[in-house]
Amino acid sequence: MLVLGIETSCDETACAIVKDGTFEVASTLATSREFHELTGGVVPEVAARKQVDFILPVISSVLEKANLTSTEIDAIAITIGPGLIGSLLVGVEAAKALALAWQKPLIPVNHLVGHIYGVYLGIDPNTIEFPVLVLIVSGGHSDLVLMHGHGDLEYLGGTVDDAAGEAFDKTARLLGLSQYLGGVKLSQKAAECKSNTIAGMLPRPKINDPDYDFSFSGLKTAVRRLIETASYPIDVVACEFETAVVDVLVTKTMRAAKEHNVKAVILGGGVAANNSLRSRLQFESDALSLPVLIPPLNLCGDTAVYIASAAYFLNKDKKLVFDPNLLSSIQADPSLDIISSGYERDDTPKN
Ligand code: KG4
Ligand code: ZN
Repeated sequence: MLVLGIETSCDETACAIVKDGTFEVASTLATSREFHELTGGVVPEVAARKQVDFILPVISSVLEKANLTSTEIDAIAITIGPGLIGSLLVGVEAAKALALAWQKPLIPVNHLVGHIYGVYLGIDPNTIEFPVLVLIVSGGHSDLVLMHGHGDLEYLGGTVDDAAGEAFDKTARLLGLSQYLGGVKLSQKAAECKSNTIAGMLPRPKINDPDYDFSFSGLKTAVRRLIETASYPIDVVACEFETAVVDVLVTKTMRAAKEHNVKAVILGGGVAANNSLRSRLQFESDALSLPVLIPPLNLCGDTAVYIASAAYFLNKDKKLVFDPNLLSSIQADPSLDIISSGYERDDTPKN
């Protein structure tokens, strides 16, 4: 089954064609990041206008790369949320127009659920046994969910304030490393640290709480206080901050994995690109002989590849049909959470 996926939740305009949920046929991505770097944050209207500029060239480019025509595509998958409403609307309306023109079924996909499928590319999906403990860490979300099967998610916990990526970005700004999406820069700075001479000086928020929630906004404030009281080298502060976030994420993930007796752990989201998080999660899972699936770096950040993959797995046992009456029920939803499916569709043709 060939699914053409479209992702426009924020500042990336992405399109990909994926076969049977695991094989990437072609993928293209355009980004308006350079404009947001100028303003030190996303201006939603600028992001939406850039989505309009990029969407058609990106779709054409994928079809050209794949050397396929629309008739060979079986379904279209579209991110419906969460994200910026203007950006989402561009993708959703473009996808509806394509579905109508090509007479293909349109599958709505939750962006956060999509992140889970970054680990399904290039593998035999049957090697992943359920239940799986999933940790999604991105710029807007930090969620721990129990995955009992495709489309069967149980929420365990999430951030009560800033998401992990947001904490990285705000701290990178505080340390003067980057004005926009500074997670990578902070991580690179932390890697320069030879010895963390201030180990333990920052809090590990909620690390010993019995729940599975996270709280990272206090950590950023603690960094501010730390650098106001003494002049520590930036690489050391970055390392201590990164270690604190990773300590909390990995400790709570491993505790949930043990308590729920899962068969594997899946990591996803932009922060999954963090080397320290990847290696600590791998190390702790290895210690328990628990398989851990970590996406390759190109499938951590936003892309349409795993949107198309998710659409395949969430619908592989259903008979997908094109029904123009269903299109109006597919709506952009900027505040969707990981448990709100966006894929519970009534595919029964209406008379
Ligand atoms: O999933 P994503 O690309 O977009 C959202 O859906 O939010 O995640 C973006 C987030 C940003 O906060 C970015 O700074 C963070 O992921 N990020 C990182 C790293 N690479 C990206 N955070 C820490 N270390 C990294 N290497
Ligand atoms: Zn994302």
